Amino acid sequence: MEHELVLTQRGRRSGLPITVAVHSTARGPAAGGCRVTHYPQWRDGVADALRLSAAMTGKCAIAGLPLGGGKTVVAVPPGHTVDRRALLLDVGDTIAVLDGRYATGPDVGTGPDDMAVIAERTTHVFCRPASAGGSGDSSGHTATGVLAALRAVCEHRFGSADLAGRRVAILGLGRVGGHLLRLLATEKAQLLAADVEDRRALAAAHGATWVSPQDALSADVDVLVPAALGGLLTPHTVAGLRCAAIAGPANNQLDAPATAGLLHERGILWAPDVVVSAGGLIHATAVELLHETPAQVDARLHGIGATLAAILRTAAAGGLTPAAVVDRLIARPD
Ligand code: PHE
Repeated sequence: MEHELVLTQRGRRSGLPITVAVHSTARGPAAGGCRVTHYPQWRDGVADALRLSAAMTGKCAIAGLPLGGGKTVVAVPPGHTVDRRALLLDVGDTIAVLDGRYATGPDVGTGPDDMAVIAERTTHVFCRPASAGGSGDSSGHTATGVLAALRAVCEHRFGSADLAGRRVAILGLGRVGGHLLRLLATEKAQLLAADVEDRRALAAAHGATWVSPQDALSADVDVLVPAALGGLLTPHTVAGLRCAAIAGPANNQLDAPATAGLLHERGILWAPDVVVSAGGLIHATAVELLHETPAQVDARLHGIGATLAAILRTAAAGGLTPAAVVDRLIARPD
């Protein structure tokens, strides 16, 4: 067993299966968002919590934060309508059991208002709205970090950090993907955008060409930006890729560690998601836990670019995948 603690319980009010997985507290208390989404079986939610919490340990270590990795997953059965408040109070009760070994935050399917409800049952919550004493929505900061990462990737791969005219496909226009669309449009990138939901109006508003998720995945672009759910890079999909590089905020983009090797063999530069996606976590914890000044927080966020650049250089110099370099750093962060 690799995880320190896994707690799954049926919510007293909602009846829904809630899992909190604490992967590691070696560096400090575990942090990681609360994901509320559909899974075919509750056990699929448990499995996802295990994977996502392990990724958070890496994310915190690479970001140099005194935190470990954890995650909450609420597995909503297909077609089930959620009593949101009941569910969030149940999540709060579950987190309260861990008595500070884990603190939650927003993730897929949750936002600041939800954090305020969870906070009615536990103090171990990041990203409540500013009006409720928290650091607020983290998705814009995650996007800022991704932009810094995209510049580092383009500098490394194409010799220029300038995003103007770069062909970029964004896969997923949710909270973070939507911010990225806006930021990349401002940078004058040439954009393709896709989502499983119909968000073509949003795409059009930023001058992006709307395509299907399949077409985004196999688009002939400079950079593919995965900004939806994980597991999209598989031996099958990697064979059909036509991008030169991949960097995005989706967690756990690889179906399995070995897929990093397949990307490398195809000459596709993959920026590990634990580095690229850390902006939201970095912002929230720098503000709420470390009480840093806005300038310090900003420097940390933009530091994602420098961290990634160093990882890409080390990988290139050693003939390694960036994923292998990241694994070494996580094993020995300092
Ligand atoms: N969802 C964020 C992530 O995957 C986690 C997060 C935790 C964000 C705490 C803000 C605060 O990195």
